[in-house]
Amino acid sequence: MTSYLLILLIFIVADASVEGSHDNLSSNYYKSTCPKVLSIVKAGVAAAIKKEPRMGASLLRLHFHDCFVNGCDGSILLDDNATFIGEKTAVPNNNSVRGFHVVDDIKAKLEKACPGVVSCADILAIAARDSTVILGGPSWKVKLGRRDSITASRAAANNSIPAPTFNISALLSSFAAQGLSLKDLVALSGSHTIGLARCTTFRTHIYNDSNIDASFAKSLQRKCPKSGKDNVHQPLDFQTPTSFDNLYFHNLLKMKGLLRSDQELFNGSSADFLVKKYAADTSEFFKHFAKSMIKMGNIKPLTGSSGEIRSNCRKVN
Ligand code: HEM
Ligand SMILES: *[C@@H]1O[C@H](CO)[C@@H](O)[C@H](O)[C@H]1NC(C)=O
Ligand SMILES: *[C@@H]1O[C@H](CO)[C@@H](O)[C@H](O)[C@H]1NC(C)=O
Ligand SMILES: *[C@@H]1O[C@H](CO)[C@@H](O)[C@H](O)[C@H]1NC(C)=O
Ligand SMILES: *[C@@H]1O[C@H](CO)[C@@H](O)[C@H](O)[C@H]1NC(C)=O
Ligand SMILES: *[C@@H]1O[C@H](CO)[C@@H](O)[C@H](O)[C@H]1NC(C)=O
Ligand SMILES: *[C@@H]1O[C@H](CO)[C@@H](O)[C@H](O)[C@H]1NC(C)=O
Ligand SMILES: *[C@@H]1O[C@H](CO)[C@@H](O)[C@H](O)[C@H]1NC(C)=O
Repeated sequence: MTSYLLILLIFIVADASVEGSHDNLSSNYYKSTCPKVLSIVKAGVAAAIKKEPRMGASLLRLHFHDCFVNGCDGSILLDDNATFIGEKTAVPNNNSVRGFHVVDDIKAKLEKACPGVVSCADILAIAARDSTVILGGPSWKVKLGRRDSITASRAAANNSIPAPTFNISALLSSFAAQGLSLKDLVALSGSHTIGLARCTTFRTHIYNDSNIDASFAKSLQRKCPKSGKDNVHQPLDFQTPTSFDNLYFHNLLKMKGLLRSDQELFNGSSADFLVKKYAADTSEFFKHFAKSMIKMGNIKPLTGSSGEIRSNCRKVN
C-alpha cells in the first residue's frame, strides 16, 4: 500500500514538473502591475472584429508567425527601416500578415493604463485567444510574462514558417522543429476554419494536385487564374469563414481543403484519424486546440532580463 502511494506520488510530481518546465510564464503575471490588461486587450480585439470580422483570423495568425520565428517575442511587429530589416516583409509575411494597427491601438491604451509593463508579445498571445473566443471557439488561460525582442530575423522568418505547398512530412518537420507534435499540427491547422488566403498560396493545389474535389477545384480556378490575380482572396473554410467551428475538418473529408498543406492532413497519412476525430467531435477539437495554443505560446519566450518591454511595438526602445 505504501509503495503504491509512493509510486503514485512520483507520477504526480513527475507530471507536474513536465507541465511546469515549459517556460517561466504564468496566467496572473500582470495581476498587480496591470490588472486591467485582459479587459483592455479584449475590448480592442472586440472592437476590431466588430469593424471587420476577418481581423480575428488575422490576429490569431500574427501570434503563430511570431512564435515560429525564434519564439513568441513580438519580433514580427518590428518595422523595417533604412538600417533594419525584419520579419514583416519576409516572404511568408509580406502583403499577407495584418492587424498591426489593432495591436498599436491596444498597446497605446495599455501604455496609458500601465506604462512600460505589458509586452507586445503578450498582447499577441491574448489577442489570439480573444479572437478565437469571440468568433465562437474555445477559451484558455493565456500564460503571460513574455518580453519583447530587440532583434528580428528575416532569414528565420523565411525558413521557419511552413509554406502552403508543404507535404505532410515537411509540415511535421516544421512543427517538430518548434517542439510541436502531429496532434498540435492538426489541431492548430484548425485555425483555417477562419480567414482568407490569396490565390498565389493555393494555385498549385487547385491546378496541379489530384487530391482535390474536381468541382471545388473548377470553381476556384474561375476565381484564381493560372497567372494573374495573385491577390484575389478565398475563404480557407468555404462554409463558415468567420465562425470558429470544426467545418474545416468536414471540408478536408470532402477533399475541399483550400491549401495543399490543408488537404495533406487528410491524404492517407497518420494525420487522417485526427481529422476524422475533430470532424466528428467539436469538443475534442476545441480541447486539443486550446492545449496546443498554450504549447505554441510557450515557444522560447524571453524572460527575466532578456529583451525589453517595448513602448512602441513597431520599434526597439
Ligand atoms: C500548418 C501549416 C500552416 C500553413 C502552411 C499555413 C499557411 C497559411 C496561408 C498560406 C495562409 C493565407 C495567407 C495569405 O494568403 O495571405 C494562411 C492563413 C491563415 N492561417 Fe495559416 N498556415 C499554417 C498553420 C497555421 C496555424 C498554426 C495557425 C494559427 C495557430 C494559422 C492561422 C491562420 C489564419 C487564422 C489565417 C487567415 C488569416 C487572415 O485571414 O488574415 N495557420 N495560412
Ligand atoms: C526561466 O527563467 C530562468 C531565470 O531567468 C532562466 O534561467 C531559465 O532559463 C528560464 N527557463 C525557461 C524555460 O525559459
Ligand atoms: C513586399 O511587397 C511589396 C508590395 O508588393 C513589394 O514592393 C516589396 O518588394 C516586397 N518586399 C519584399 C522584401 O519582398
Ligand atoms: C528571404 O527570401 C527571399 C526570397 O526568396 C530572398 O530574396 C532573401 O534573400 C531571403 N532573405 C534572407 C535573409 O534569407
Ligand atoms: C515531401 O517534400 C519533401 C521536400 O520537398 C520531399 O523531399 C519529399 O520527397 C516529399 N515527400 C513525399 C512523400 O512526397
Ligand atoms: C504545375 O506543375 C507544372 C510541372 O511541375 C509546373 O510547370 C506548373 O507551373 C504548375 N502549375 C501551377 C499552377 O502551379
Ligand atoms: C496525396 O496522396 C496521393 C496518393 O497517395 C499522392 O500521390 C500525393 O502525392 C499526395 N499528395 C498530394 C499533394 O497530392
Ligand atoms: C530602425 O529600426 C530599429 C529596430 O526597431 C530601431 O532600433 C532603429 O532606431 C530604427 N531606426 C530609425 C531611424 O528609426
